[in-house]
Amino acid sequence: MSRTAIAILSTENLLHNLEVIQNKVKPAKIIAMVKANAYGHGLRSVSIRLDKHVAMLGVASIDEALALRKSGVKCDILLAEGVFEASELIVASTEKFQVVFHHASQIEWLKKSHCPLPLQAWLKVNTGMGRLGFSLNDAKNAYTQLCESPLIAKPIRVMSHFACADDPEHPLNAQQIKAFQALIQDLKIQDETNYSFCNSASLFAFKECYYDYVRPGIALYGISPLKGVTAQALNLKPVMTLQSSLISIQNMPKGASIGYGARYQCPESMPVGVVAFGYGDGYPISAKDGTPLLVNGIECPLVGRVSMDMLMVDLRPCAHAKVGDPVILWGQGLPIERVVEHTSNITWDLLTGVQHRVKFLWTPI
Ligand SMILES: Cc1ncc(COP(=O)(O)O)c(C=O)c1O
Repeated sequence: MSRTAIAILSTENLLHNLEVIQNKVKPAKIIAMVKANAYGHGLRSVSIRLDKHVAMLGVASIDEALALRKSGVKCDILLAEGVFEASELIVASTEKFQVVFHHASQIEWLKKSHCPLPLQAWLKVNTGMGRLGFSLNDAKNAYTQLCESPLIAKPIRVMSHFACADDPEHPLNAQQIKAFQALIQDLKIQDETNYSFCNSASLFAFKECYYDYVRPGIALYGISPLKGVTAQALNLKPVMTLQSSLISIQNMPKGASIGYGARYQCPESMPVGVVAFGYGDGYPISAKDGTPLLVNGIECPLVGRVSMDMLMVDLRPCAHAKVGDPVILWGQGLPIERVVEHTSNITWDLLTGVQHRVKFLWTPI
């Protein structure tokens, strides 16, 4: 029998989360962020499930976009970081990808390009994230250059990205919102253009910023984007449940140490289970003693440092557990948000870190 580490993925929960978001933001349209292998859930599997239900899918590179087309995905695709070299403009043009322009070098490539078809373009502006985007000072000039290019389809769309939306009270949010509003005035856009500003956290926190398109990522996968707010409170349901099983149980004497580095010492004689799931599967090595796990649906604490293929669990709360019993690492019944509280991770990096050797099982469409 092979390893029991599996990821169970719920089509129903994915579509439920999408519906929750759609109902919240309508008439704004959805650009579903499926970059980074759809946040670890599987680029193709997620995208074919969302294809008919969203306006666009957002990816990080042209490779991801081409993989989607190869899988038969029909809806529009946004290259959220634009092109990485001049030659990609031709591909983006023939494949009708929507291309973000965030840097002057990309406009220079455009000027020398021979795109066969006009490109659908987004101007990305840095309103405070401090990552990609033209500065507020340079945005107008970049916008004019794109407008003047015969290779760019009109209208050009405009987007920005929040830095601190997970913490709605953070003062940078108000600054970014003000800057985006001022930018729209400043560009004096004549055409019927479209704007996009919100990621998951901001669509739950800032109604005034929906504009034409919102770009949810983490919320689609059923995870709360807001600090201190549960997914349940937002009516989001986890798409991924990670599960494995107990492959050993031993009664350890008082004082016995558990795992590498002897980090945990048993305070009394106690049953300790070994779960076939480790950091080689994507479980965080930073998980501390006490990180919750669900054994037979009962919460039990992790003990000892996580190994590559295994981790250990204190079975005192579940004394009748036996070898072969199921253990949930996160997902149904154990929100990943609870797990990250005991690690140095964020939910985004845990999800994207799930490894290929874990078997992915999707519920039917
Ligand atoms: C440009 C852009 N938009 C939207 C998102 C989605 O963010 P979230 O997962 O917080 O919803 C991301 C994610 O990093 C992003 O880079």
